[in-house]
Amino acid sequence: MFKNLFSWSKRVKKLDPDKIPEHVAIIMDGNGRWAQKRGLPRTAGHQKGVQTLKEICYACGELGIKYLTVYAFSTENWYRPTSEVNFLMELFKKAMRNEIGELEENNVRVRILGRRQGVDPDILAEIDRVEERTCKNDGLILSICFNYGGRAEIVDAVKKILSKYHFHESIDEEYFKEFLYTHGLPDVELLIRTGGEQRLSNFLLYQSAYAELVFTNVFWPDFTKKDLVDAIYEFQNRERRFGRIGKV
Ligand code: IPE
Ligand code: IPE
Ligand code: MG
Repeated sequence: MFKNLFSWSKRVKKLDPDKIPEHVAIIMDGNGRWAQKRGLPRTAGHQKGVQTLKEICYACGELGIKYLTVYAFSTENWYRPTSEVNFLMELFKKAMRNEIGELEENNVRVRILGRRQGVDPDILAEIDRVEERTCKNDGLILSICFNYGGRAEIVDAVKKILSKYHFHESIDEEYFKEFLYTHGLPDVELLIRTGGEQRLSNFLLYQSAYAELVFTNVFWPDFTKKDLVDAIYEFQNRERRFGRIGKV
């Protein structure tokens, strides 16, 4: 235990406290392969993945990250076998129900981002409950992307704008952001994908325009707060240019 504590603080010490990313986003991938490697059903990986999310969420708080946005279920994940989709729906519902107390205690504000259409009313009720119960918390803002697609989000934003305005002069990039599910959140600075794939899979397309991407082969259920620190370390050692010449 002491060894663990020691290696954690040693790792954190290598970070520059003035350059902690404000907004970290994670594509939590590799649950199925994690389970299959152990001869377990894919669902066991999803179950373990919930524990990982808890650990990472509190580590983000400790590190001073203000916004954590995670990808839990995509608009394309409905095309998986019904048994897996049903399991994921139940797991999401149960996780929200079971974790609400701890999230409240830890001052975490939860937002669920995605399309409500097509989601079971039971789940929508849990979403409303968790958002309402945590809305006054002013610690970490945890946004969980559920029934989320980056393209769907942009299309939905356009629809909202069209239903409100008949002119377009005032619409610019900053203003457009306020119509996305992520309204109020700053751009993603660091985007981590676990599980070895190097793609966005329709995640935060607008918000990640200048995010630093960090890919790791670690499957999500095995991802630890040490891996998180390593990803932040890599972020801190990148040169961000935003199209300019030299460091910004
Ligand atoms: C990510 O893990 C979780 C969801 C997409 C719900 P996967 O289920 O995609 O796991 P792999 O990528 O098949 O291993
Ligand atoms: C992205 O992972 C979605 C989530 C992690 C929720 P996928 O496993 O669905 O992505 P692909 O199919 O490998 O692109
Ligand atoms: Mg996957």
